[in-house]
Amino acid sequence: MEEIRLQKYLAECGIASRRKCEIYITLGKVRVNGVVVTKLGTKVKPLIDEVFFEDKKVMLPQQKYTYILLNKPIGVVTTVKDPFQRPCVLDLVKVKQRVLPVGRLDMYTSGALILTDDGDFIYRVTHPKHEINKTYIVTIVGIIEEKEIQQLQQGVRIEGGYQTKPAKVSIIKIDKEKNITRMEIVIHEGKNRQVRKMCEAIGKKVVALHRAKIGTIGVKNLPIGSWRYLNTYEVEAILKS
Ligand code: URA
Repeated sequence: MEEIRLQKYLAECGIASRRKCEIYITLGKVRVNGVVVTKLGTKVKPLIDEVFFEDKKVMLPQQKYTYILLNKPIGVVTTVKDPFQRPCVLDLVKVKQRVLPVGRLDMYTSGALILTDDGDFIYRVTHPKHEINKTYIVTIVGIIEEKEIQQLQQGVRIEGGYQTKPAKVSIIKIDKEKNITRMEIVIHEGKNRQVRKMCEAIGKKVVALHRAKIGTIGVKNLPIGSWRYLNTYEVEAILKS
């Protein structure tokens, strides 16, 4: 979680303007995790550090919409209801708000999937012009060659004739004994099954695919199949990434 200046946090919690909050800090009216803070450079972790103003805990205003980060398991489909009775992401995320998945992960791909009831957010995150990075961990059969990495990086022609945009590719592990390569691929497009198709385009079969991050928000600390709410800062960070 990104740290922000205490006066900015206080202002965002509706205490007063940033300038006025600076004065409150220097007057000793603010406590962070039980300790009075008077230094203006102090940074806090929103929603983690406990901040009190004149003995009242400060809180961020309630979000208008709901944003959920799910670590989708394989075998679950990214739809609201499935005609074939397969498990759907909404079977895992049971909230009263009518949240929808933001983009999709195919049934055999695990990892970061956002669900929200904010239609504007869905539009902004899924529209290719906003170029939000998505980071995938891909395991393929075989040992990848340098020229194949370059092909993936420069863009490849995938099924349907589409030329993919430049991608970032880095090798995580080459296991000669098991004959597999694990790599990280960062793309900012969202064509259907794009990563699998990119690997197919260089003649490689994907054996495991996991989306580790959307923008800067990852699922490393979220057990597979579980979910958590995203806070205002995380939502902003995704839109800015
Ligand atoms: N690329 C794929 O191949 N599958 C996904 O689910 C997402 C990206």
